[in-house]
Amino acid sequence: MKFLMPTLVYSEENCVLSHSAELASLGSRALIVTGKSSARRCGAFADVTAALDKHGVSWVEFAEVEENPSVETIMRARQVGCKVKADFVIGIGGGSPMDAAKAIALMIRHHDQDWEYLYDKTAETSTLPIAEIPTTAGTGSEVTAVSVLTRHDKHVKGSIPHKIFADLALIDGKYLSGMPEQILANTTMDALCHLYESYIHSAATDFSRMCAEAGIKVWARSKDIVLGKREASPEDYQNMMNASCMAGMAIAHTATSMPHALSYRLTYSAHMAHGKACGYFLAGYLREADPVEVNHILSLAGFKTVEELEEYYVVTCGRDEVPLEILEQSVEEVFANKGKCKLPPFPVYEAVIRRIAGI
Ligand SMILES: [Fe+2]
Repeated sequence: MKFLMPTLVYSEENCVLSHSAELASLGSRALIVTGKSSARRCGAFADVTAALDKHGVSWVEFAEVEENPSVETIMRARQVGCKVKADFVIGIGGGSPMDAAKAIALMIRHHDQDWEYLYDKTAETSTLPIAEIPTTAGTGSEVTAVSVLTRHDKHVKGSIPHKIFADLALIDGKYLSGMPEQILANTTMDALCHLYESYIHSAATDFSRMCAEAGIKVWARSKDIVLGKREASPEDYQNMMNASCMAGMAIAHTATSMPHALSYRLTYSAHMAHGKACGYFLAGYLREADPVEVNHILSLAGFKTVEELEEYYVVTCGRDEVPLEILEQSVEEVFANKGKCKLPPFPVYEAVIRRIAGI
């Protein structure tokens, strides 16, 4: 059994400014990687630049990371980073900028390699130092080694083979406070999928389950906020971030499972948000698993039955009609991938995947 969590994590209010010295110690010139606007809107960008300015660390911004970042974006960011001689990378945002930051740090370090290096399983994985500042409560990318990129040449989205942990994660719940309700619902659903998929997983260990169980309990504290039953306090937002972070630690050890594997086609072809697309398959996945284990993790989150969880999903994320051909394609792709079929702790036949997909 192996347990590795090499990222230094601080999770508290104002932690970017409180730990500015640790952030600044990563280098002398930062490439700050963000999406188009959310890093600025939530205040994280201002905190990070103030922290760097305080310690005389220069920085350059690359604010062009799109949702589901492409290999082309990584290579453009690498060009910017190399031009200014960046010696560390800071990702601010949801999964897309944080995942991109890892791949960019890899490619700047290997500046003489072309994009295929990203997918080279035999290539060395050294990177520039990386700090991650999450501004959503879903991905856990700040503590996972995963970088999910989109390959337009193959019309797919998936993880690159390099396993890249950030050196530092600075987690502040206040960045969630202005988030639109729908995004909060979708991203916290992503965190729940990470927790449940990691727990019901062929690679689960007592250590990974320790993270998943703790994460589910913390996740459950903010359920009624996502349901719109009460206003969120700063503590609630920090809880949402912590649940997402613990979920990240869980999947860092097990990976995700069938709901995530099936979700990628929905996101690529039906443009469904990531957390919502994963949640689409969650109830179906749990129905295939050991009922004793399922009841345990449902009760930790305050759900009595799988149906109650499904209802929560419909109320918070909404249930879209997905064209049958897209679901058929998802099933076909996942069934053709032997590695994905080994992720659940139960035997996987085509009929099982079809049941999970609801077709
Ligand atoms: Fe996810």
